[in-house]
Amino acid sequence: MARVALVTGGSRGIGEAISKKLKADGYAVAATYAGNDEAAAKFTKETGIKTYKWNVANYEDSAAGIAQVEADLGPIDVVVANAGITRDAPFHKMTPEQWHQVIDTNLTGVFNTVHPVWPGMRERKFGRIIVISSINGQKGQFAQVNYAATKAGDLGIVKSLAQEGARAGITANAVCPGYIATEMVMAVPEKVRDSIISQIPAGRLGEPEEIARCVAFLASDDAGFVNGSTISANGAQFFA
Ligand code: CAA
Repeated sequence: MARVALVTGGSRGIGEAISKKLKADGYAVAATYAGNDEAAAKFTKETGIKTYKWNVANYEDSAAGIAQVEADLGPIDVVVANAGITRDAPFHKMTPEQWHQVIDTNLTGVFNTVHPVWPGMRERKFGRIIVISSINGQKGQFAQVNYAATKAGDLGIVKSLAQEGARAGITANAVCPGYIATEMVMAVPEKVRDSIISQIPAGRLGEPEEIARCVAFLASDDAGFVNGSTISANGAQFFA
């Protein structure tokens, strides 16, 4: 029977590429989204991948959504905690609201996504947790105190989960994308984006599919002894 994979934020951006790759690799995929009904409907129509709408920042909504996915597709074997937002501002202008929105979605959202599936994975003695962190969690970033804090926090989560899950056949790993050609990066002012690209030795933005292939490896049986690690895919922009 096909393994079941849950991809949060799985209908757009990097998440979309991950959902499609996992489906192509034979997984039964469920993709979540937070608000953009139109993009989700288009995604389902094009890919045949079912989407589920819930806010990862809310524990009850996440637990209920995950229960629905498991009722539809079966127990979740692979979790890709990908959903994330930016609320960039220089620190002196960052509001408590911008801080909390990003923490609630990008960091607490990982807890809310993994915690409900964890007991089942422990029972079944198999699981793959893959968290999409960021180069900016590794190096920090001007105007991203909130975002960088969450992405660094993601690395603490996977290193801890790796130790807790190892004897139960569960691995937890992170992927740290560099700057990838998605709406999130395209939202950065053009001048700033050009200056970012000039700092990438590869001389280009990454493609979402390049991150999806890292995720597919971490999800596979081949990666069973890879646990608590980070794959940096950033065109040589930064070495952690
Ligand atoms: N390093 C140093 N200085 C910087 C800077 C940087 N990276 N970016 C901007 N500045 C400076 C500007 O030159 C400007 O300086 P001056 O006032 O001396 O001219 C100042 O900071 C900008 O100050 P403002 O008050 O005008 O800033 P603002 O309130 O308008 O905010 C901004 C602008 C939000 C910082 C905008 O420049 C921005 O979005 N920057 C990009 C931040 C970024 O890289 N985000 C990553 C998004 S992609 C992502 O997150 C995905 C991933 O995981 C990689």
